[in-house]
Amino acid sequence: MTYTEGSTTVSQGNAFINPKARFSRDATIAYLKLLKTPKNILDATSATGIRGIRYMKELNPEYVTFLEINKSVYPYLKKNLVSNGINPDNAVNLSFQEFCNDPESSKFDVIDVDPFGSPAPYVFDSMKIARNGSILCFTATDTAVLCGAHKQACIKSYDSVPMHNELGHEAGLRIMIGFIARIAAQFNYGIDVGLSFSYLHYLRVIMGLRHGAANANSSLKNMGFAYKCQKCGWHYSERGQLPTKSKCDSCGSAIETSGKLWLGPLHDDTKPSDLRASISKVNAADEKESRFMELIASEPNIPFYYSIPKLTKIMGLPSVSEFSVIEDLKSKGYIASPTHMEKNCIKTDAGLDAIKGSIKALLKQAG
Ligand SMILES: C[S@@+](CC[C@H](N)C(=O)[O-])C[C@H]1O[C@@H](n2cnc3c(N)ncnc32)[C@H](O)[C@@H]1O
Repeated sequence: MTYTEGSTTVSQGNAFINPKARFSRDATIAYLKLLKTPKNILDATSATGIRGIRYMKELNPEYVTFLEINKSVYPYLKKNLVSNGINPDNAVNLSFQEFCNDPESSKFDVIDVDPFGSPAPYVFDSMKIARNGSILCFTATDTAVLCGAHKQACIKSYDSVPMHNELGHEAGLRIMIGFIARIAAQFNYGIDVGLSFSYLHYLRVIMGLRHGAANANSSLKNMGFAYKCQKCGWHYSERGQLPTKSKCDSCGSAIETSGKLWLGPLHDDTKPSDLRASISKVNAADEKESRFMELIASEPNIPFYYSIPKLTKIMGLPSVSEFSVIEDLKSKGYIASPTHMEKNCIKTDAGLDAIKGSIKALLKQAG
């Protein structure tokens, strides 16, 4: 069976391919196109090689190295490199971990780790083949773990407590980034998150590394905790080494606490229109992906969001459109936006009382 994205066709053979990961590939290309052309890229978990082949063709680095651990997949990877005009000697049948621990291995400008399940076992080794300014890309498909369905597994893999409620996806993304930031700090790197998102069954982050103890320490200042009250809808997050709250600030009820997690930016908000323009030029991307990218890139870098249907339910009121709440809050001078993380939710700097006030006023107006 063959599979095509843009100008790249691969044959699947024994390799895994998921067409739903196209957005991960398109978004990464769109983001990397905004940066200086990388000299070299590592496709650390290649399978068919579609990701690295596309990076080679669409980003024009000097070379891409393709790693694939599985012996029965490796011949298909090589075949796909040949059919796409890439030297098959660039494919290496080794585990990422062995490759990173070989002193002969190069340092890479871009390292893309797109494994089955958790990226956690790859993070430490990735630092050994990184350098100042390297871009690290990680995918997590263990979303049930990161997003709260398996608390103990999240503690085991990421040393962090997840959120098991409507904030779970953003908490999961922030837990994964926080985990990487803590390991990067051990190697004296600070991180700058360029782009990150939750999409279908996976979470994805693209980040830059800045070398130096001061950079590592300033990154770690973005670690903290998030709190959620299911009774009244309040949520709050704060940077720090220890959680400080055990009860809801708004109604005094018990709260869910999550962390440690990353409370810094989830994307570089200097780039929203550039990202939208960049993805629209990626051959394989469609209008739906462009709109999704626009939503991600234009979200305010405010941690977490409010579910409007949950709030109206808590308030015992009929439903109201999140877009009308957004417009009302904006008219009062607040920042307010939809979020790609969850349907019918809003990111805003308005407090819970202001949001509830907006909901009541809108319903009153509607009669
Ligand atoms: C999810 S697939 C990769 C999909 C591919 N990146 C894409 O965009 O289509 C994960 C691949 O990583 C390989 N793999 C698993 N563990 C690995 C390791 N430790 N080092 C290198 N490759 C590994 C698997 O055999 C599998 O082919």
